[in-house]
Amino acid sequence: MPENILICTAWPYANGSIHLGHIAGCYLPADIFARYHRLKGNNVLMVSGSDSHGTPVTITAEAKGITPEEVADSYQKEFLDDWENLGISYDLFTSTRTKNHTQVVQDIFVNLYEKDLIYKDIMSQAFCNKHNQFLADRYVEGTCPLCKYDQARGDQCDSCGNTLDPKDLINIRCNRHKDCDDSPIFKDTEHFFLKLSEFENDLLKWVKSNPDWKPNVKNFTTGFLENGLIDRAITRDINWGIPIPVEGYEDKRIYVWFEAVIGYLSASIEWSSNTNKWEDFWKSESKSFYFMGKDNIPFHTVIWPAILLGYGGLKLPYDVPANEYVNMESKKISTSRNWVVNLKDYLKRYDPDPLRFALTSIMPETSDSNFSWEEYLRANNDELVATFGNLVHRVLSMTNRYFDGVVQAPNRKSDNDIELIKNASNTLKNVGDELSKCKFRRGLSSAMALAKDTNKYLDDHEPWKKFKVDPSDAGTTLYYCLNVINCLKIIMNPYIPFTTEKLNIMLAIEKNIDQCGWNWDSEEIIPGHKISEASPLFLKLDDSIVEEELARLNIQ
Ligand code: MF3
Ligand code: ZN
Repeated sequence: MPENILICTAWPYANGSIHLGHIAGCYLPADIFARYHRLKGNNVLMVSGSDSHGTPVTITAEAKGITPEEVADSYQKEFLDDWENLGISYDLFTSTRTKNHTQVVQDIFVNLYEKDLIYKDIMSQAFCNKHNQFLADRYVEGTCPLCKYDQARGDQCDSCGNTLDPKDLINIRCNRHKDCDDSPIFKDTEHFFLKLSEFENDLLKWVKSNPDWKPNVKNFTTGFLENGLIDRAITRDINWGIPIPVEGYEDKRIYVWFEAVIGYLSASIEWSSNTNKWEDFWKSESKSFYFMGKDNIPFHTVIWPAILLGYGGLKLPYDVPANEYVNMESKKISTSRNWVVNLKDYLKRYDPDPLRFALTSIMPETSDSNFSWEEYLRANNDELVATFGNLVHRVLSMTNRYFDGVVQAPNRKSDNDIELIKNASNTLKNVGDELSKCKFRRGLSSAMALAKDTNKYLDDHEPWKKFKVDPSDAGTTLYYCLNVINCLKIIMNPYIPFTTEKLNIMLAIEKNIDQCGWNWDSEEIIPGHKISEASPLFLKLDDSIVEEELARLNIQ
């Protein structure tokens, strides 16, 4: 029976480009996972969209002198290009600006409000007199009462790391408006609060009942819950966002985090276009996986599950395989300091699959990791070109040269041959197990080990020498190698989809890989089958790219 697998990725903010850190930590693992499950024959729904509301989008718009709508639209286009060019295969990548999303969010808001899980209360909030505007905590700045750092933010001090209350800042200033020197006052304002405290015990029980979660996700969430949940304001005094579906609050909006997480559900509904197909993933037997960087964990393991519990009848996250961070050349990625490589810039200069490959081999699954151009070059030249590409090129060209592309009938079945075939079928099974457990790095090394072993088998059997004295022995070696390559094509497809499709064509297999499934079809490469022309799968890169790319970093 096929399983229903819902794959969710964090919604990128629609005010900045996607960079390699985002790809390695979130979008690439989700895509590999989705491709694997599709090959397995499972029903996969992979959704996300642009996180388009919130003050950061407004500030970008103000700085550029355009509207927030224009900012969000232009990033939506950029993201869609990114996904297509890197092969991130969403079933739907929408945005939080659709009518459908607003409806779903407002429906949930009203539902929780009627159950008293959302209630009104008065709070005191910083206010900039000069611009006549309330200020979110992180838009006030001042001296940290604890460490005396003079640029602490109202929510947190970046120097000592403590969380703060804006009221405790010394010498408080507005940090929301360019060149604003206003010293904010505190004013009462009415807001809606989510009764998180109500869910503490249920959430704790639920988290503890998930044995397979990554230790970091589980420990972080358990600690978070054990510290006690406090009710949170889920509306803001801004005008860019989703309106509150209660009369009298026209000048306020729903808080961006409260509505963005609801996007997983609203996107599934949008994808169903007026059918109830979305229910397969939210109400029936199904598993949902949420991919993100570690800073997003509490929103997905506490806030979103609390909303779902309050609403009722919908499935909670099955797994939240959040990742750690990727550094760039051993330093923290920083967009403002231009210590970053944006995906769209990478794709102007290089192919997608080498990046998918290089980022998978450093995926920050259990600890922070590091991207360096030197390592990228090595991964491309030594592994893709010299191991996988070389194996394929040698075997396919010899088959073309010696046998006019026709697969030969094997005339021996030695221990070595049997071992090679066993190795391939074990690897297919093993990589499948790793992928289903979100162990992408281990899956990839196991796949590459098979490519190495097959190269060695080829070197040991020397068909280029044997052909002169015993052509049928050479043909037999190539027969086995071609079959293993046909298996590697499936194993490697989730990781490097563009190249494996190309390989599939060179092998002259009529079906495309999607139709092949996660299995090794021994009926495809049979004696008499004729393969096509071979061309190199990967480009060898010149050593000079390392210096070129390093010079591009930090140019501002
Ligand atoms: N935009 C957020 C970020 O980039 C992620 C939002 S995930 C969502 O950190 F589920 F809330 F949409
Ligand atoms: Zn101001």
